[in-house]
Amino acid sequence: MDSTMIEPSARDKRALKRVIGHVDAKREAEKIMYRGIADYVAGATEDEYTLALNRKQFEDIGFDAKMGVWVPEPKLETTVLGQKLSMPVFTAPCGGMRLVHPDGDMGIALAAKAQGLNHILSAVSMYPMEEIHSAVPDAWFQLYKLGNEDIMWGLVDRAQDSGYQVIVPTIDSQVASIRERDYRNGFNMVKKMTLMEGFKRADQLAFRPRWAYRFWRDGMPFQLSNTVGLTKDGKPLSLAVMSEKGRQSHSPMWDDIAKIRERWNGKLVVKGVMSVHDAKKAVDLGADGIIISNHGGRQLEFGYTITQTVAEVADAVGSQVEIMADSGVRRGTDIMKLLALGARAVLIGRMSAWGLAIAGQAGVEHVIGRLRAEMTTNMQLLGVDSVQDLNRSHLRLPDYIKDAIATP
Ligand SMILES: Cc1cc2nc3c(=O)[nH]c(=O)nc-3n(C[C@H](O)[C@H](O)[C@H](O)COP(=O)(O)O)c2cc1C
Repeated sequence: MDSTMIEPSARDKRALKRVIGHVDAKREAEKIMYRGIADYVAGATEDEYTLALNRKQFEDIGFDAKMGVWVPEPKLETTVLGQKLSMPVFTAPCGGMRLVHPDGDMGIALAAKAQGLNHILSAVSMYPMEEIHSAVPDAWFQLYKLGNEDIMWGLVDRAQDSGYQVIVPTIDSQVASIRERDYRNGFNMVKKMTLMEGFKRADQLAFRPRWAYRFWRDGMPFQLSNTVGLTKDGKPLSLAVMSEKGRQSHSPMWDDIAKIRERWNGKLVVKGVMSVHDAKKAVDLGADGIIISNHGGRQLEFGYTITQTVAEVADAVGSQVEIMADSGVRRGTDIMKLLALGARAVLIGRMSAWGLAIAGQAGVEHVIGRLRAEMTTNMQLLGVDSVQDLNRSHLRLPDYIKDAIATP
């Protein structure tokens, strides 16, 4: 393990042993995290029905099992944009991860690398992009505009100078959505997060001493390291200021994407696509990949599923661009279903955050290991030898997906 990462305590290791599936991961993580942070991770927009749909979508799809086929060792390896992965999974860009555990983005990135996956670093990571690139040279960089074109171009140039090969503008965060749990907890997108806020919530913190101790030992970080030198006063944006700027074009818009394509020498992947229309637009602007995502239910309440969108988009532009997908992935079978519908790989957001909360880098590796075990076992049960062989004939689709893909 990297020297900067915290060695898990005996207690952390015991907690990890209790993590078999995603329900355990969430439960153990929430035993440790201060409620404001636990809700920041688990929560979503307003009534959270897209969050719920992100789980229900996988229950709607069955497997068309053909038994009696022995697969000794299913192959999970794949490539995405020419990079090899031991399993078709990326750890998703997630801001604020150092509030979850001091290992933060670095812990997630190193865990992904150790497990043969790849990490997409959030623009609002709390470790500088240069440090992540040196430790994990294959990592991709996710881009926000942060309410200011100068900051956006500063981030693009900084990512290019540090050697990133793939940039991932997220287009679904025009403004910060209304996440009611965060508002209730005082962790909303307007209020300032200060030490004083912490004192006001001392009662909650008292029940989470491990989290409070780790956070204190880490110097109570609130700054977004990638913005050092890019603001008018040269100081990094704090989470509070970022939250305020979240009311003014957080995401790059299509005209920005066109300019990014011209300025960026590496590959371009657009994150937050939720329609054939936008997928075609990304392809027309020269994207090499797209990520179908509703931001884990944390932005617009879409009211329709990732699974359906993956199927529609794969039929429309699957031969022109590599398709990835996220939002709601908690099981190996979820990954298999998205691949069978037409995705090349998936991203996991909250799963890695929960692993991180429990035991830092080791926790993320554990969660990835569980997903790998689930995928391997279920590929054997389905009698499929390789992830490349998964296709729609392995699925029993609900009518809403059948109807959507039958219509040209
Ligand atoms: C705590 C948290 C922070 C996030 N921050 C970002 C971010 O900075 N940039 C981004 O593009 N997506 C962000 N996302 C969305 C994730 O990249 C991903 O789309 C989502 O988590 C996938 O859904 P899942 O959590 O159900 O796996 C965040 C998600 C979470 C849970």
